[in-house]
Amino acid sequence: MKALILCAGKGTRLRPLTFTIAKHLIPIANKPVIYYSLEKIKNAGIEEIGIVVNPENIKDFQKFIGNGNHFGLKVEYIIQEEPKGLAHAVWISKDFVGDEDFLMYLGDNLILDNINPFVEEFEKDTNLQASILLSPVKDPSRFGIAVVKNGEIVQVIEKPKEPPSNLAIIGLYLFRKTIFEGIKNIKPSWRGELEITDAIGYLITNDFKVKGHIIYGWWKDTGKPEDLIEANRKILDDSYIKHEIKGVSDSSSDIQGRVSIGENTEIINSTIRGPVIIGKNCVVKNSYIGPYSSIGNNVIVENCEIQNSIIMDNVKLLNLPYPIDSSLIGKHVQIVESEKKPKAMRLVIGDMGKVEIVR
Ligand code: DAU
Repeated sequence: MKALILCAGKGTRLRPLTFTIAKHLIPIANKPVIYYSLEKIKNAGIEEIGIVVNPENIKDFQKFIGNGNHFGLKVEYIIQEEPKGLAHAVWISKDFVGDEDFLMYLGDNLILDNINPFVEEFEKDTNLQASILLSPVKDPSRFGIAVVKNGEIVQVIEKPKEPPSNLAIIGLYLFRKTIFEGIKNIKPSWRGELEITDAIGYLITNDFKVKGHIIYGWWKDTGKPEDLIEANRKILDDSYIKHEIKGVSDSSSDIQGRVSIGENTEIINSTIRGPVIIGKNCVVKNSYIGPYSSIGNNVIVENCEIQNSIIMDNVKLLNLPYPIDSSLIGKHVQIVESEKKPKAMRLVIGDMGKVEIVR
């Protein structure tokens, strides 16, 4: 079996971060979102992976993942020139997939459950032509929705106005080559995309057996800033990080709970209350880093309070009068108190940045 991870698409809801990095490479607990999928796929015994990327982000993926060697995987990149839909992304991966069964993974999705039973069942039950992971949701009209009878999916519909069930398609699918027949027989949807949901619909109407596999564990489509912050909280909570102090802290600092501190990081006169991860070569001075904070490499924090936030590499935060909470701060950002006159806010913020201030 092979795997296909879909990472083309524009990531518009995560701008400005996605102007410089694909959303699948944004760090959660200091690890790019896509690494979590690679781990799950490897754990399920699948080693050959095709990653569908767009012409603008292929270089970043190659930098972060290369040919997969480092992970014990064999990775190929498939370029989708335009995001013409999930089914289109699968169609252009036809040569990579060949005659094999495959796991299709939406690259912006995070799931904590073990996917091995889902894969094993599909490998054993050769009557199944597709198997789809589903999860009950509160807002079904935001997702592809399935209706299940006796374990089999009898209807699927993409982002329905009036959802016939609350079971969302969460972004993990198992297919045999029959899915290509489905894709050949569909037309673009109202949003102009070739929908994989419609190709699955074709399988169902043509009496192919499609299984619905319901999970009740946590998962997330990390499309918006608040989703990434929630995912960061969940991953830090889920013992993904070990208590491991490689850096140094002085005697007036207090490190509480599960905290990971990277090499050459200095903690001076500060309180760190886990779960927290801090990368390499950082300085944290006269500050408080509270639960659910992920701080990248080469970050300087002085006289600040931070909690429940993702701070990426090379950020500088100095003398801030209010705590930073529920924030997502991209690479090389500087937020510093200024001594300059006139006393004013001087901002250099990229397109689509967002700043909420306190009075
Ligand atoms: O999050 C689960 C939902 O994902 C499902 O419930 C829906 O049935 C499914 O259609 C999908 O809906 P989204 O609208 O959330 O898909 P999105 O456009 O966010 O794309 C999901 C991933 O696939 C993302 O990593 C980008 C990638 N992609 C997307 C398109 C449209 C591609 O690689 N190529 C594409 O053409």
